[in-house]
Amino acid sequence: MRILVTGGAGYVGSHCVRELLAAGHEVTVYDNLSRGHAAAVPSGLLVEGELSDERRIASTLTERRIDAVMHFAAFALVGESVAEPHLYYGNNVLGSFHLIEAMRTPGVSKLVLSSTTATYGTPEKMPIAETTPQQPINPYGFSKLVVERMLDDYAHAYGLGFAALRYFNAAGASPVGDLGEDHDPESHLIPIVLQVALGQRAKIMIFGDDYPTPDGTCIRDYVHVLDLAAAHLAALDRLTPGRGIKCNLGTGRGYSVKQVIDACRQITGHAIPAETAPRRPGDPPELVADARLARELLGWTPQYETIESIVETAWAWHRSHPQGYATKA
Ligand code: UFG
Repeated sequence: MRILVTGGAGYVGSHCVRELLAAGHEVTVYDNLSRGHAAAVPSGLLVEGELSDERRIASTLTERRIDAVMHFAAFALVGESVAEPHLYYGNNVLGSFHLIEAMRTPGVSKLVLSSTTATYGTPEKMPIAETTPQQPINPYGFSKLVVERMLDDYAHAYGLGFAALRYFNAAGASPVGDLGEDHDPESHLIPIVLQVALGQRAKIMIFGDDYPTPDGTCIRDYVHVLDLAAAHLAALDRLTPGRGIKCNLGTGRGYSVKQVIDACRQITGHAIPAETAPRRPGDPPELVADARLARELLGWTPQYETIESIVETAWAWHRSHPQGYATKA
């Protein structure tokens, strides 16, 4: 198929582009490079453009005879969404609206959306199944929920076939070590811990050790970025006009912050000093996926099941790219 990948220069998008190409699809990346990296996109695939530019998107879809869209272009930081909600309503909600409107002109009716566990808010019952009510507690989660609802309405009214894939904690990198996570500033746990191992930070601050969990630190379900990519490819084959697939992407296993740090110590051989700091506002104590629906609907099983296997690939990337994509060869 011919696929337009919005946000294909970003973390999850760039890994997905590689898997699409490996599977024999033709790929066009549509990205404004505001947070993504041109170096993460194979040469010749990038169209630099804004989601707000409906005409540009529509002409790209027509000229390249695109069959389906994978939509990764979005902001994804909870804290930032609370401080600057306009970014999230503007880019995530309005941007997605422009994209799906642009798709109507040439009649492109297949879309895979990068969605999030943040649409659930802070459910008390673990693991989180898709039947859990979606009650987001921050603008980021709400912005993605609005997009999911827009897609429902477009499916019903215009026959869009879509999949909304709700990621838990995306982590890891290409095992070859040439694609990976590069955010500025970095706020995610594993990259920050690995920056300590690289000597770029003195220690890791553990945000809260008084949560109601076995070791007092927050539990998350870390899912490998290549497993996310595989789920997107599987979803592509199952899009049905007028219908939406919505499912969680997680391993179903939870690891605490302390367990993640221990895994990083084991993989890197570095002592990784840690210090307890106050809780980070908005962090739920535990988020673990009930991942059965993705298995059933997509035939998807994560290949990276343990935190060690995920950290190993992240370490391959960070060690060989200590400055991310800006690292000189
Ligand atoms: N953490 C630390 N120290 C750090 C960074 C993180 O202790 O320096 C902790 C956090 O408090 C949290 C855990 O590590 O308990 C994971 O934090 P991340 O920032 O890596 O990831 P989040 O769970 O906050 O975020 C993820 C996704 C978001 C999504 C959110 C839903 O990255 O896109 O889950 O809650 F919105």
